[in-house]
Amino acid sequence: MARARDAAALHRLLLVLAAGALLLLAVVSQATVVPPPSVPTSAPEDPRCRATAPRRGALAVYPSDMEQLQFLLNAKFVEAEWFLHAALGRGVDFLDRNLSGGGPRPSGARKADLDFRTTEVAAELGYQEVGHIRAIREAVGGFPRPPIDLAPDRFAMVMDDAMGVRLDPPFDAYAAPVNFLLASYVFPHVTAAAAMGIGPTLMGYASKRLQASILAVEAGQDAVIRLLLYQRADELVPPYQGHTVADFTRRISDWRNRMSGCGDKDEGVKVLDRKQGAERRTISNILGAGEDSLGFQRTPAEVLRILYGSRNEQIPGGFLPRGANGTIARGFFQLA
Ligand SMILES: *[C@@H]1O[C@H](CO)[C@@H](O)[C@H](O)[C@H]1NC(C)=O
Ligand SMILES: *[C@@H]1O[C@H](CO)[C@@H](O)[C@H](O)[C@H]1NC(C)=O
Repeated sequence: MARARDAAALHRLLLVLAAGALLLLAVVSQATVVPPPSVPTSAPEDPRCRATAPRRGALAVYPSDMEQLQFLLNAKFVEAEWFLHAALGRGVDFLDRNLSGGGPRPSGARKADLDFRTTEVAAELGYQEVGHIRAIREAVGGFPRPPIDLAPDRFAMVMDDAMGVRLDPPFDAYAAPVNFLLASYVFPHVTAAAAMGIGPTLMGYASKRLQASILAVEAGQDAVIRLLLYQRADELVPPYQGHTVADFTRRISDWRNRMSGCGDKDEGVKVLDRKQGAERRTISNILGAGEDSLGFQRTPAEVLRILYGSRNEQIPGGFLPRGANGTIARGFFQLA
């Protein structure tokens, strides 16, 4: 009896709900057909949508901004060629012949053996780098793409050096998704720190906007790679017994600190000793950051020491065998 009464009540309730839903639908669809006149439809002309105007008399770009922003091109070229080749088997020239400025094609890069999702990530990051190269060139000009070496043995040298052992077989950055992600781990953290580093030197409002916009996406790239690695943190990296993904990231971070020689500005994706992590309370360290979770910054010299793998901004090598280009990087050679 009670059950039958409950069923009847439920039935009535459902009818009421259905009627209510229909009424709501009718109201909503009418609202979308006839927009209320108070909603502004031409938002771009709305002054409240416009960014705050620069101060009167402020310049968009100061001459001294140019070499700082151009410096980022070096790392951007390396990243663009790396991600695009890994995803598509071809690089920047395939998308836009003008961006290289006549510089040579990278050597040693190839398509990586990736699953569909990882290919998507690699392609997205690669295209983002192409956009950044274009944006920098249009804003402050540039220089030809420097010679870039992305051969497997370049990465193998980094990994051997980072792990402190000769990995056998040599680490192949192109062989599997996890290898690709570990190799990718080497770059965006450095470029983000480089973009942070030039911030205080920039004076023009357009320069600052460009730097902030690049930093926003670069830091996101780093977080994406790190999150994908953190999801596998405790897995071993085949065929190397005894080395987990977290272990690799920690050692690559330590390697970058060692190469750059300016203190600890780099941490792996998983915390061992509660000396790192957000407020020193997390095991995950997906967005590696310093005190108060503020991003790390690196100087151009530090960046070059890492990309050259030489600990010395005056000694090219590694991913940039003939050296980086632009006033800042070439300036170090004049000191040599
Ligand atoms: C490259 O530059 C040429 C000449 O300035 C121009 O006509 C062409 O549209 C550019 N290509 C791209 C993809 O921007
Ligand atoms: C650097 O750029 C200049 C042109 O600005 C070019 O002549 C030179 O070959 C480039 N060097 C490297 C190492 O890319």
